[in-house]
Amino acid sequence: MSSPTMIDLFAGCGGMTVGFAAEGFEPIMAVEWDKAAAATYAANFGEGHVIAGDIAQVADEDIPEADIIIGGPPCQGFSNLGLKNLDDPRNQLWREYMRFVARAHPKVFVIENVDRFSKSPEFQMLLAEADHGALQEYELRFGVLNAADYGVAQRRKRTIIIGSRIGAIELPSPTHDRQPQDESLKRWRTLRDVIAGLPAQPASTELPEGSSQFFGELMPGVFTGLDLHIRRTPTPKSLDRYSFVPPGGGRFDLPTKLLPNCWANKPTGTTDVMGRLRWDLPAVTIRTEFFKPEKGQYLHPQWERGEWAEEFGKHRGNPAKSVDRVITHLEASLIQDFPPNYRWVGTKIQIARQIGNAVPSGLARAIAKQIRPSLDEGASKDVRELDLELAF
Ligand SMILES: C[S@@+](CC[C@H](N)C(=O)[O-])C[C@H]1O[C@@H](n2cnc3c(N)ncnc32)[C@H](O)[C@@H]1O
Repeated sequence: MSSPTMIDLFAGCGGMTVGFAAEGFEPIMAVEWDKAAAATYAANFGEGHVIAGDIAQVADEDIPEADIIIGGPPCQGFSNLGLKNLDDPRNQLWREYMRFVARAHPKVFVIENVDRFSKSPEFQMLLAEADHGALQEYELRFGVLNAADYGVAQRRKRTIIIGSRIGAIELPSPTHDRQPQDESLKRWRTLRDVIAGLPAQPASTELPEGSSQFFGELMPGVFTGLDLHIRRTPTPKSLDRYSFVPPGGGRFDLPTKLLPNCWANKPTGTTDVMGRLRWDLPAVTIRTEFFKPEKGQYLHPQWERGEWAEEFGKHRGNPAKSVDRVITHLEASLIQDFPPNYRWVGTKIQIARQIGNAVPSGLARAIAKQIRPSLDEGASKDVRELDLELAF
């Protein structure tokens, strides 16, 4: 069966494409306006089919036919007010998406978005388009999927919508479970499965020197593997703080004396800030600022209880058996299910944004695997019909 062709819109650094390519889909166009992200995509899948620019600037004539369109327009607004004003600029990106569907006329499209997407006016618009608008030909199936249920070592919930004009395609069933009740399911993959064995103390605080040209511009990179295993340089006070946080713990484990003022004055609220990951669970959702411990549960999972700190009235971690740092870019990329030899372009901050924005490839791959048989079936039916026509 020949490879189904695919367009990736809002492609980022290519997380979704990694999963679809693994199931034999052939990318023929990708659109992404963040140059560094587009360059990372290009470093892995080739530059020829990448448009590193605003989706609105892609001319109708340049949109090829394709078997499938993947990628979700970023969602700007969440409210239960409904869609009051179709000219609202927030809807611009959705109109662009519809334009691509109209021009490429894919058999299937896949939209991914944040888990709250079903509460957005954009979702209402999509349902209306499928009911009596531009997407009438397509049957929709949608739901919120957790990447951990598809073999990714991360709990990350995304709304997935599959639209198909070749018969409804159901969302893929989970392949993994926290505590599988039957043999058809595997146990969730854990942090230990994906980051154990990497050097506890990365050698460098910086990406290596070097730049490459993409889209006529010089950009930092290409980096891969241990190039991305970079540490930060926390202050002694920060290190002191990290040492009190056990796996699964967070800011509430800090001794009062070590609390930053903003937290001391706000005794309730977000619990996972300055949190420490756990070896034997999938990670929490990796966001774009995973390198800042104050933004979530991003401290390395290795910690063992050490001596009693009289001054603080708590146990510290044993420094010889604990790793007091945030996860590195390499670790975050592995948790996001990128292969260790994925090629990255950009500054530290740009690459972190690419990693945090991506769809984990394992989740994308599960969706691709679910869709592929319907496309293959459609293609062999087309061939049979063609044979019949030729026979007469
Ligand atoms: C959630 S990220 C996509 C992640 C990607 N699907 C992956 O798996 O790696 C959304 C992307 O849309 C891009 N974007 C937003 N507005 C755009 C526009 N007008 N034209 C092109 N790309 C845009 C952003 O730069 C961002 O990289």
